[in-house]
Amino acid sequence: MLNTTLKFYHRQAIVELDNVPAHRTLQELLRNDLQVHDTKEGCAEGDCGACTVVLGEPQGDKLVFKAVNSCIRLAHSVNGMAVFSAADLGADQPHPVQTALKECHASQCGFCTPGFTMSLFGLYQNKICQGQTVTPHMAQEHLSGNLCRCTGYRPIVEAACTMGKLPTVHLDHVAITAHLRQASATPTVQTSDTGYLRPQHLQGVLQARTQYPQAQLVAGCTDVGLWVTKHHRKWSHIIDVTQAQELLRLEFSDTHLTIGAAVSLENAWAAITQDRPQLRAYWHRFAGLPVRNSGTMGGNIANGSPIGDAMPVLIALNAHIALASLNEQGHVTERILPLESLYTGYKQNCMAIGEVLSWIRVARPTATEWMQAYKISKRQEDDISAVALAIRLDMNTSNQVSAVSIGAGGVGPVPARATHAEQAIQGQAWQLETIQAAQRALAQQFSPISDMRASAEYRAQVLGNLMHRAWLRSQPASTNIHGMLSLEDVA
Ligand SMILES: Cc1cc2nc3c(=O)[nH]c(=O)nc-3n(C[C@H](O)[C@H](O)[C@H](O)COP(=O)(O)OP(=O)(O)OC[C@H]3O[C@@H](n4cnc5c(N)ncnc54)[C@H](O)[C@@H]3O)c2cc1C
Ligand code: FES
Ligand code: FES
Repeated sequence: MLNTTLKFYHRQAIVELDNVPAHRTLQELLRNDLQVHDTKEGCAEGDCGACTVVLGEPQGDKLVFKAVNSCIRLAHSVNGMAVFSAADLGADQPHPVQTALKECHASQCGFCTPGFTMSLFGLYQNKICQGQTVTPHMAQEHLSGNLCRCTGYRPIVEAACTMGKLPTVHLDHVAITAHLRQASATPTVQTSDTGYLRPQHLQGVLQARTQYPQAQLVAGCTDVGLWVTKHHRKWSHIIDVTQAQELLRLEFSDTHLTIGAAVSLENAWAAITQDRPQLRAYWHRFAGLPVRNSGTMGGNIANGSPIGDAMPVLIALNAHIALASLNEQGHVTERILPLESLYTGYKQNCMAIGEVLSWIRVARPTATEWMQAYKISKRQEDDISAVALAIRLDMNTSNQVSAVSIGAGGVGPVPARATHAEQAIQGQAWQLETIQAAQRALAQQFSPISDMRASAEYRAQVLGNLMHRAWLRSQPASTNIHGMLSLEDVA
């Protein structure tokens, strides 16, 4: 269970490193320990993408590729994986990603280019090597975690759409996974305790939690990583939950979708939007792809930021969560509660030290369901909400609301259920007067604060406007009282 020797595949060989401290980030390891300087540090907080690397996670004989931010990823979390940085590309001849960047004049400053290259390499592996054609929209999605201050995005998107026109270069998945299997089978001499634990099962996570009550639990580390790089926090032990098989479940039953707490944000949103495609725009505005590839739904919920984006939607979906712990016999038990009742105050929750969030469950859509979710932030991508609102309804045939649930973010110290607005809508006709009553109810229930993201007045106004927007969105364009098209209609 204790990670001692760290082993991963990089530059066509297995790298083995002893005594890597638990807090070491992947970027520090690459740049300082391995002297691989192509991975740049821009912000050290997951925002700029200069440090992007691509991880190849073995699944059988195949590798699953994910672009991630190495600056906030802990080094031990890549144990057993392949790590690709720009230095891996074009060892013998330029890789199509590099050729396309060159031909489209898309290589600009030396700081951002390695990160852009790696995001494009992730796109290349996941789309072009799977026989798909890259569209400008797809390219923008994959570049959502990379900032360019000289605003030279156009040629980079062009390069993304050009690289598939060059002869395809495939990685030898079988050889790489064989290398990794062989490395993990090779016994290593137990060195010192690095303090990094990565149990393979929930029981192991809970045992570690009991054994080291002061340890820091981490999942994708997209929140915790900043505590390391910006606040220089240290813990005697770190418990990584991302290998615990029970936390990786993603299951559809006839009635419910269950998402393991350690499922990545990207995969969790993909599952949610499989049933509710209207939430895709909201999904793609959650951070950028590298953060969604590392971060987890469980981490977002447990961190409990009042502006966390998963919670408004999950509250509107009446999500329940399970908190797992060990009973006196040492067996795993779970208590199940509505998501919103987890929160007790600003970033505080009712999870006991010995408990771990194990899954999130939402009902699958009813035949009469109608749902929308909106996020307001300063930037389109890679930015957290100032305000968010999600509303879910069931309506009967006479336009009367038979069930309503509303989640709100950015309105107080915790992610919240808009109970007053729900009461104003429940059992009423779905019409403008009802919406106006719901807007008044929102204003009555919530007193948002002013901060760097928005003023209290702005938040309160926008929250009511989003309610109105949801109603307008539900109306056929011809009966829209203002004769206006919503943003979604024109998108
Ligand atoms: C550039 C950037 C952009 C971002 N954009 C957004 C955004 O648009 N919207 C948004 O909501 N968030 C955003 N975030 C915040 C972050 O990505 C999310 O909160 C993410 O879901 C955290 O998940 P994680 O797995 O990385 O959690 P971690 O950082 O690993 O952990 C966060 C907290 O959750 C706890 N935890 C994790 N898993 C469990 C578990 N199973 N049981 C109990 N406790 C657990 C940890 O102990 C820690 O306290 C952004 C972050 C960055 C760096
Ligand atoms: S250095 Fe900016 S995202 Fe990592
Ligand atoms: S490529 Fe670095 S600022 Fe534009």
